[in-house]
Amino acid sequence: MTQVLVAYGSRYGTTREVAESVAATLQERGVSAEAKPAREVRSLDGYDGVVLGTPLYMGMVHRDVRALLERNREALAERTLAVFALGPIKAEDGLDASREQLFTALAKTPAPTPVATGVFVGAYDPARLGLRDRLLAALPASPLHGEPAHDERDWEAIRRWAIELSDRLH
Ligand SMILES: Cc1cc2nc3c(=O)[nH]c(=O)nc-3n(C[C@H](O)[C@H](O)[C@H](O)COP(=O)(O)O)c2cc1C
Repeated sequence: MTQVLVAYGSRYGTTREVAESVAATLQERGVSAEAKPAREVRSLDGYDGVVLGTPLYMGMVHRDVRALLERNREALAERTLAVFALGPIKAEDGLDASREQLFTALAKTPAPTPVATGVFVGAYDPARLGLRDRLLAALPASPLHGEPAHDERDWEAIRRWAIELSDRLH
């Protein structure tokens, strides 16, 4: 059975939940998949494929995902890679700008070309922000300024993406 690692970075857990859902869908489709925080991944030995999940923050991929890409440059070149990103915080913002951010960010990393990329609406809760993000959101010029909590993650789109991906991982 194909062994796949779904490695993710996440500040507030929304990408973690999506990574767990992607792993569960892959499992259902006969791919042996496990979700793990990217910072806990020491080696890619034993995995045939890697799915990286990252939130976008200020146009960048999560630092743990970037670090994984840098640490495993050679191992990734020999494996099937797929990448998904979360952002923006609500559906009405559309996915185009976030998709552009993901591609620009990936072009700056040593990542091989992914067989699939997905960009999904994320979630946002001002009450849960860490200090740095809270300060940022408090700036009147910030797009987060005054935004209420949203969770418009499109679980159907996420599932469809994972199903399509499972066919490429067999
Ligand atoms: C401070 C901050 C900056 C963000 N910057 C971006 C961004 O540049 N592009 C984007 O698409 N989404 C951006 N987002 C939205 C996050 O990617 C989204 O909330 C995501 O679900 C967070 O995932 P996490 O809980 O796994 O960390 C930002 C969110 C916050 C709080």
